[in-house]
Parts: sequence; structure tokens; C-alpha cells
Amino acid sequence: MARIVQPAGQPAPTNAPNAPDAPASNDAAGQANFDAIIAKDSRVEPKDWMPEAYRRSLVRQISQHAHSEIIGMQPEANWITRAPSLKRKSILMAKVQDEAGHGLYLYSAAETLGTTRDDMMDALVAGKARYSSIFNYPTVTWADMGAIGWMVDGAAICNQVPLCRASYGPYGRAMVRVCKEESFHQRQGFEILLELAHGTPEQKAMAQDAVNRWYAPSLMMFGPPDDDSPNSKQSMAWNIKRFSNDELRSRFVGMLAEQVKVLGLTLPDSEIRFNEDTKKWEYGPLDWEEFKEVLAGRGPCNAQRLERRRSAHEDGAWVREAAAAYHDKQLAKQAAEQKAAA
Ligand SMILES: [Fe+2]
Ligand SMILES: [Fe+2]
Repeated sequence: MARIVQPAGQPAPTNAPNAPDAPASNDAAGQANFDAIIAKDSRVEPKDWMPEAYRRSLVRQISQHAHSEIIGMQPEANWITRAPSLKRKSILMAKVQDEAGHGLYLYSAAETLGTTRDDMMDALVAGKARYSSIFNYPTVTWADMGAIGWMVDGAAICNQVPLCRASYGPYGRAMVRVCKEESFHQRQGFEILLELAHGTPEQKAMAQDAVNRWYAPSLMMFGPPDDDSPNSKQSMAWNIKRFSNDELRSRFVGMLAEQVKVLGLTLPDSEIRFNEDTKKWEYGPLDWEEFKEVLAGRGPCNAQRLERRRSAHEDGAWVREAAAAYHDKQLAKQAAEQKAAA
């Protein structure tokens, strides 16, 4: 596999504190320093010592997040050529490109933890890595672009705004920029639905159908219920996650319940209500068996998404090889110049 040139501004992975050659004698002092950083709610940076479990947990979370961003380009890219106007086409193209950018920030953040982009990409195309289950659902009408923007990007915002304060510096900083762009994504989706909902009866029906189909999968984006979420507790203790899955899901339902009124549409759940006692939004049961099936690779589009990713990766091999050859040339040039100057 071609070597990937380290992006500018990122420390090389070998500088990561928990790289295999990090001295074991630092562990006690390193742990004390790490604990102090977490207790102060401050930031852990790539040069700091960190527990191996913290590093592994972050690599898992950030790489899954990165994979979700780039696999998530596919359901919407499906509609670029069929967008109903030039304006809609250019907005959708910009949105899909933003998602590619989010993937890149996140792969770079994960690389600061000592993993490589090649390893992460290999795991994805081999079907060994997870990504958000929502991207395994098909986009069957134009209204799906609206529902995805409003609900899927909306859920991403609810999830990611608290991650701007994640204890790992490179992850939190990547999230700040990602969240700004997600706001634009959500508004463009809402605006698509608003226009359809105020259009012909057929357009309104198409918008309602898209909302009906994307509602439950978007609620599942927050992950399994709290009592079935094995990593959440530790992740909250490390100040990576700030709110539990169920807490974020409840807030998201509240946001949808208010905004759907402006759209003039409805949510496909008659049990949504605000509980005055708990001050939380409640909703009907979700089909967690379906969630597990999709996550296990048996959703409607899992095979198609991975196959597309695999072929795009293979088709892009020449770009990676050209970048690596250029990098080698620059190194040779620098070495020659240094030798001549000596
Ligand atoms: Fe994104
Ligand atoms: Fe987005």
C-alpha cells in the first residue's frame, strides 16, 4: 500500500506518547499528570502521557467518526446529478464536500494518537471498522436530502457540540469547525423540507414520507440506550463524552418536536411528550433489533456502501502513489541542498 504523506501541521504519529517506544518509567508520573488534567477539566495533548485504554478508546471513537463522515457522503452523492435545480445541485455538492473535509480532520486527529490513516482505511474497506448505522439506509426521493440535512445532520450537531469540549485537544478542536459546517447542513435540509411541505400535495406527501423513514434511524444515531452502552460510562469519566446517549436523544426529540410544527409536518411517533416532572422529552419505543442488524452489516445498503468505498479507494491508488513520490522527491531535493550548503 502507498505511504500517506503526513499532513502539514500534524505531529508525526511516532511522536505520540503511547507509541510502542514510549518509556514505561514515565507511567506513574504520566498517570498523575493525566489525572490532574482530567480533574481540572483541561486538555490532553498528543505530547502528554495518557493511559493506553484512553488512547485506544479515542482511536476507536475518532476513527469510527471519520469513517461515518466519508461513508455518509454516499447516500447524498446519489442525488447530486438529480438535484431539481442548479442552485440545489451546488448546495448539495458543497455539503457532500464538507463531509469529506470532516473525515480528513478526524483522520488527522486520530493519527496524532499513533495510528495511521492506512491502517484505519484498511480496516474500513475490509469491513472490520464500524461507522454510523444511519448511512446504510437508501435515499429514495429528493425529500430524503431534506430529511437527512434536518434530522441526520441535526442529530450530528446534538452529538458533536458537547464534543467540542472533549478532553483530547485535537478531537475537540476538529469538532469546533465541524459543528459550524453542520449548522449549515441542517439549515439546508430544513429549507428543502420547508419548500416541499409548502408545495403541491404530492411534494408535501414526499416530505412527510421522508421524515417518517428517517425519524427512527436518526434517533438511533445517539447509540444504544444508556443501560446497554458499555463504553459510555468510562468515556464520560474521561471527559470525552459529556452527556449520555439517552440524554442527548431526549434533547434531540425536543428540538424536532418544535421544528416539525414550523414545517407543517408530523413525526411518526404519537408518544412524544414533554415530561414536566423530569423536564425531559419522552418518545415511543425504538426497534433496537433493527439497529443491531444494521450495525452487524445486514442493513439495506451495507454491502453497497462498502463496495463503493473499496472501489473508490482502489481507483485513488495512483493519487496516493503520486503524493508519496512527490514527497520522496522533495526529501531528496532538501537533502541535496543541505549537502551542497555544508
Ligand atoms: Fe459531517
Ligand atoms: Fe453534515
